[in-house]
Amino acid sequence: MAESFEVALTVNGTHRAARVPARRLLSDLLRHDLGLTGTHVGCEHGVCGCCTVLLDGEPVRSCLMLAVTAAGHEVTTVEGLAEPDGTPSPVQRAFRECHGLQCGFCTPGFLCTVTALLRETPRPTEDQVLEGISGNLCRCTGYQNIVKSVHRAADLLTEET
Ligand code: FES
Ligand code: FES
Repeated sequence: MAESFEVALTVNGTHRAARVPARRLLSDLLRHDLGLTGTHVGCEHGVCGCCTVLLDGEPVRSCLMLAVTAAGHEVTTVEGLAEPDGTPSPVQRAFRECHGLQCGFCTPGFLCTVTALLRETPRPTEDQVLEGISGNLCRCTGYQNIVKSVHRAADLLTEET
């Protein structure tokens, strides 16, 4: 039987732990061991960005990371973006308002990516938005509404801070 390891980390502000095989991916730890199925898995090859979560605030592809390497770190998944009382974050509200989602499969990855993008660059230019979301694939929206959503989220964040 494969050797297993205890992985303890902070997920959405809560201490979590699981015993997993060395080859367990972070995406599988989140979805299967911790039940956080908001993180979606599309390509499992680092191409689509659906599995993007924040690791110590930086976007990472959870399908390319081993769960053991996340030990001791802070992970934020899409479930952790809203306020503790369930109020959607400005980025989530902007996507809803500007129709930045259709089927929603890519949305968790976009929301995490855009949250980090706007933290780093609160007023991105069009080119910075395109560059910032270039690692995330969407098969539904044609991107126009996603780009609009990012600008709207920047407005909301500015208004609210
Ligand atoms: S599932 Fe991780 S990048 Fe596609
Ligand atoms: S909303 Fe369907 S893949 Fe993006």
